[in-house]
Amino acid sequence: MANPSTSSAETRKRLFTGLQPSGQLHIGNYFGALKPFVDTYQDFDSMLMVADYHSLTSLKDPKVLRENIIDIVRSYLAAGVDPKKAIIFKQSDVDEHTELAWIFETLVTVPFLELAHAYKDKVAKGLEANAGLFNYPMLMAADILLYDTDFVPVGADQRQHVEYTREAANKFNNTYGQTFTEPEEIILEGVGIVPGTDGQKMSKSYKNTIPLFGSKDEISKAVMGIVTDSSGERPENVYAIHKLFKSEAELAPLYEANKGSYKALKDALVEDIETFVAPMRARYESITEDEIKKVLEEGGERAEDLAEEKMKEVKKKIGVTI
Ligand code: ADP
Ligand code: TRP
Repeated sequence: MANPSTSSAETRKRLFTGLQPSGQLHIGNYFGALKPFVDTYQDFDSMLMVADYHSLTSLKDPKVLRENIIDIVRSYLAAGVDPKKAIIFKQSDVDEHTELAWIFETLVTVPFLELAHAYKDKVAKGLEANAGLFNYPMLMAADILLYDTDFVPVGADQRQHVEYTREAANKFNNTYGQTFTEPEEIILEGVGIVPGTDGQKMSKSYKNTIPLFGSKDEISKAVMGIVTDSSGERPENVYAIHKLFKSEAELAPLYEANKGSYKALKDALVEDIETFVAPMRARYESITEDEIKKVLEEGGERAEDLAEEKMKEVKKKIGVTI
């Protein structure tokens, strides 16, 4: 799509995205989701949400959930999101999200929700999905539509959910009159899929990650575990990750000088990741829980003001305000 950003304050568009607090971030999350947000969010009225209620569909350990919420906000801040320039908040702090989700659930059909990936994939694996997972897309629609969002930057796996969001907006607008803006997804395909240490997509679920805020030892352990094959001169799995940290022009002489010497190339990769990560990690380690709580509290209040206003309009339109 064309560059959707605009620098004029009066016509600034709303950018909204969310991440589930489902575990320690890895460099795939950073280059795929966090960095594209950090690079563009200042051109918009931006909101960054911790999708904690969404993560309840899979995570049932309160201690882990609490730690993950704190960790993800710490990661946003360490990666460079300024809480004065974006509203950072937690889904569970704004009741209107679940309230509006319910209203959308009364507008879409069961067969429509049955086709949503998160639910469909679970059922295809022969697993029993909870009702929350089934309704998941309508909670995400509420997240996005409450704030008159124009653009939603997400990974390609979330495209369908934004389509479902447009459908929810459409159904509501057709039933009760124009109320919601239909948002557009910004798919971060340009960055591609960051490969993990085994060469498949880097993912928490595959245990093939390089942790974004890991210690140098942890990074080194992960890098030394990168699977290399001996068929070519260049270890492609090492190179694919290395390219994220240095230009191909910078890497060419290094890979030329170390043909076949995988250990030397992995050592160089560890150093390059370390150089990149160290300043962010220092910030990450310096951010206190109190600061995080304050960011969420202030962000929650700002989000609540916006959501309350929109929900008043919705309640009038559907006829429950008498
Ligand atoms: P994981 O696969 O580790 O569970 P999530 O599904 O929680 O990651 O993804 C969070 C965000 O990070 C999404 O926007 C997703 O598209 C992005 N992301 C995850 N893994 C990668 C990867 N290997 N390369 C690029 N982006 C990724
Ligand atoms: N479903 C998204 C994911 O799993 C997280 C999410 C929840 C989200 N609400 C959102 C993303 C609203 C963008 C906009 O990654």
